[in-house]
Amino acid sequence: MSTPRYDTLSIAIHWITTILFLGLCAVGIMMANGVFEPPLRYQVYNLHKSIGVTILGLTLFRIVWRFIKPAPALPNTIKPRDKFAAHTAHKLLYLALIAIPLSGWLMSNAFGFGAPFFDFFTLPALIEKNPSLGKIFSSAHTFGAFAALALIGVHALAALYHHYKERDVVLWRMLPLLKQPQK
Ligand code: HEM
Repeated sequence: MSTPRYDTLSIAIHWITTILFLGLCAVGIMMANGVFEPPLRYQVYNLHKSIGVTILGLTLFRIVWRFIKPAPALPNTIKPRDKFAAHTAHKLLYLALIAIPLSGWLMSNAFGFGAPFFDFFTLPALIEKNPSLGKIFSSAHTFGAFAALALIGVHALAALYHHYKERDVVLWRMLPLLKQPQK
């Protein structure tokens, strides 16, 4: 019997989201530190927002897809306590992938700006202009992004630990380009 792994679409969305998320954090930190001068600034802000909206859409789709193609069960060699920790981390990551773009959308509206999706359309405003509320959403956006970065670090270290130390299939299931560990 072959070892179960994630389906190709789930694997693709996982790695595309990872790259987009890390890229958005790097660009977002530069934006918040005033690295970009106009007119480049407007293009970078619009690109950041559009890719953020893409992540939100991909995540909502991914959650629906997970019901259609459930994740393969973790190997039985993993202790129940560690399975619980892994599942909790995964739920928190989904929450972050929704809450961070949503707070960016709300922040933009509260400061009187739109949330564009490239040149195709602008998402409807969720709230009226309200700069003091904007500051709260801005703090939530920053806090969410840095908390998610920390969680991604732990998540990645756990995956590497399973691959190189435990030598089980946990990382291979999401990265089948790797050689499958024989355990
Ligand atoms: C998963 C998606 C997203 C991630 C990971 C992300 C990440 C970040 C990060 C790390 C910062 C810098 C925060 C700081 O250092 O204070 C930032 C800034 C910003 N983000 Fe996002 N973001 C995402 C989605 C969005 C969306 C969807 C919007 C709006 C529609 C948005 C609007 C903004 C704006 C306007 C800033 C700059 C705030 C300033 O000028 O100080 N972001 N983002």
